[in-house]
Amino acid sequence: MLSGTTLFRSTVEADLDRLLDCAVDEPISWADPDRLRSFLETGHYRHDRMWVAEQDGRIIARAVWWGLPDGDSPLALDCLWVHPSVPDRVELAAELLRHAHKGYGDAPAYHVFVANGWRDDPEVTAAIDWRWRAGALAGLTDELERLRYEWTRGTPVPEASDRLVFRAEDDDEVFVEAFSRVAVGTLDHHTRQALATTDPEAQAREDVEDYRSMPGDRGWWRLAYTPDGDLVGVALPSANAGGPVVGYLGVVPEHRGHGYADDLLGEITRLHAERGAERIVADTDAVNVPMARAFERSGYHNFAVRLVLSAPSDPLNA
Ligand SMILES: CC(C)(COP(=O)(O)OP(=O)(O)OC[C@H]1O[C@@H](n2cnc3c(N)ncnc32)[C@H](O)[C@@H]1OP(=O)(O)O)[C@@H](O)C(=O)NCCC(=O)NCCS
Repeated sequence: MLSGTTLFRSTVEADLDRLLDCAVDEPISWADPDRLRSFLETGHYRHDRMWVAEQDGRIIARAVWWGLPDGDSPLALDCLWVHPSVPDRVELAAELLRHAHKGYGDAPAYHVFVANGWRDDPEVTAAIDWRWRAGALAGLTDELERLRYEWTRGTPVPEASDRLVFRAEDDDEVFVEAFSRVAVGTLDHHTRQALATTDPEAQAREDVEDYRSMPGDRGWWRLAYTPDGDLVGVALPSANAGGPVVGYLGVVPEHRGHGYADDLLGEITRLHAERGAERIVADTDAVNVPMARAFERSGYHNFAVRLVLSAPSDPLNA
């Protein structure tokens, strides 16, 4: 099949029909025709963020990145497909990614959604295996598994905490200080990785700015205190383009191990539920076991898994 020269390029409008014909038949998330069309319309996908390998006028591989419509560069690889007739799809996919990374000057993380229990499904593990090998050859070597949780209306709303007092706080600097305290000893991969190269206060300030830039209302953010005024943690209900999300919560190290994660998550859930949320979504790293357990105790259901493959120094890999 790989007879002629292979051309690697970003796509143009005239490629659309052929792009829509690239069909992934493996049980993982992919840029299916509906998603491709609607994200091209919203600008989350763009032709300069889709790359193809072409041979004799045929598309034999396709990679699709996602980004903010007005963002400077793509944020995540969403889909990687190689025609089944290609003998070495790992090498071809890796070459395609290398060309695109060169064009972007960056190697965005690859995010794939799979069903729970994916390790027991040979079709899913095979689909992940060749993509992960291709990603690794193109510099994406850092693997992370995140559990996706959802709370849906009808699930009991947690009672208000009877041991913590929650307060809104207008001063971002107070949140910066609280963020840098709860980051100590975190099990969250993104924060641990960021703290390896960034000063804790600068990192906390960056995180506060990132949460401010989300569609959720800044006025929803809460600090949690003991009745005698000792800071226990932060609770940041938020939202993304898909709707309400848990956002962020954390307990300062000296108050860990008392189940306060449940009180903070309960407050976030109650605040969203009171505003009429039908569904609240959250992700946490599979290795962040105390957080995953808190979700499970608080009426959240683990509905899927997000696998992330990133370049080791990529701070956006979570
Ligand atoms: C995740 C987090 C909120 C859990 O808070 P918590 O109120 O201490 O949780 P729990 O009391 O339910 O803890 C359950 C157990 O995990 C342990 N634990 C909690 N956090 C831990 C940590 N960061 N590292 C190691 N063990 C931890 C507790 O000591 C307790 O152990 P025990 O059962 O032996 O007593 C807290 O670790 C934290 O703030 N982490 C940093 C921020 C973060 O990861 N947020 C979630 C991002 S999605």
